[in-house]
Amino acid sequence: MLRKIQRFIRLSYHPLVLSNCLHNYFENKNRRTILRAKPIHLILEVTNRCNLNCIQCLRHNQKINRYGDLEYTNFIKIIRQFKYIKSLNLNGFGEPLLNKNLFKMIRYVRKNLPYTFVSIFTNGMLLTEENCIKLLDSGLQRISISFDALSKEIYRSIRGGDFDMLVNNSKQLIRLKKNGGYDTQILFDFNQMDENYFQRDNVERFANNLGFDGVNIIRGVNSLWGYQPQKHSTKINVFEHCGEPWNYTQIAYNGDWVLCCWQPLKNQFCYGNVLDTSIKKLINSNQAKKIRKNFAQQNILIKNCKKCNYYVYGLK
Ligand SMILES: C[S@@+](CC[C@H](N)C(=O)[O-])C[C@H]1O[C@@H](n2cnc3c(N)ncnc32)[C@H](O)[C@@H]1O
Ligand code: SF4
Repeated sequence: MLRKIQRFIRLSYHPLVLSNCLHNYFENKNRRTILRAKPIHLILEVTNRCNLNCIQCLRHNQKINRYGDLEYTNFIKIIRQFKYIKSLNLNGFGEPLLNKNLFKMIRYVRKNLPYTFVSIFTNGMLLTEENCIKLLDSGLQRISISFDALSKEIYRSIRGGDFDMLVNNSKQLIRLKKNGGYDTQILFDFNQMDENYFQRDNVERFANNLGFDGVNIIRGVNSLWGYQPQKHSTKINVFEHCGEPWNYTQIAYNGDWVLCCWQPLKNQFCYGNVLDTSIKKLINSNQAKKIRKNFAQQNILIKNCKKCNYYVYGLK
């Protein structure tokens, strides 16, 4: 509740952002086909390169034929089209710390869009002391560290990385934050899967002991990309809970716009490129309107939406 009030106050600093958020809220609630509000959440892929190969990840099973980083000049061109966003997540399907311009990008947004909440997810492998300080100094508001496990064996079987290094890197970041008086929120991320299900009740205690500010337990991973459907995940009604075609804007590292954050990297889900055509035009293109209209009538046009089981996101 307190966080909601704080967010509201931050947004109120900029009346245009606040009014755009309210506008978007009603358009989403009423499942409008034509959107007059500008996008409010942006997920911007800073790279699709990665240093891990987790079993649940799209990268594990899909053949990605193009790898790259978002260039800084393109980043500026894109951000200038999103002046009213409430949140910016600098992720996608890769490890954000592999983009050497990440810190500069965060600083740019904090300076030019001060009312926007900036966050990243990281696998934590590159949280060296130098990178931790640069991240904290950049003004990043939230960093979620993806653990998915509470022990070496389970971590290795899911993420294949070095668990001890992850724990030490996390402790280092938490220590630097506390010593430096930074207010970046540091979260422990746990995607509940059949492999780690038995550990879920101990997640909070484990994360508290390390000094995390909170935990983010995601009750089920998406099996869209070949990872086996989870016997423990909860399936709920997509039409009620999925707001992606209204709320979210996902842009790949090369500027491709995809309607949903779970459908990246495939040409059939790309509805244009924001470096060639403005997002304003793209969100109300015939194709995007058709998808929203059908979705509102409970008719799913995109094949993958039928398979998507990620509606559990955010639900306890
Ligand atoms: C795609 S990663 C990108 C950032 C970074 N590489 C990391 O692992 O945190 C962002 C988040 O998506 C999660 N993720 C990966 N595959 C997923 C899936 N099939 N369903 C749900 N979440 C998934 C990861 O565990 C991670 O917490
Ligand atoms: S570290 Fe993140 S992007 Fe890389 S394979 Fe794992 S989930 Fe995917």
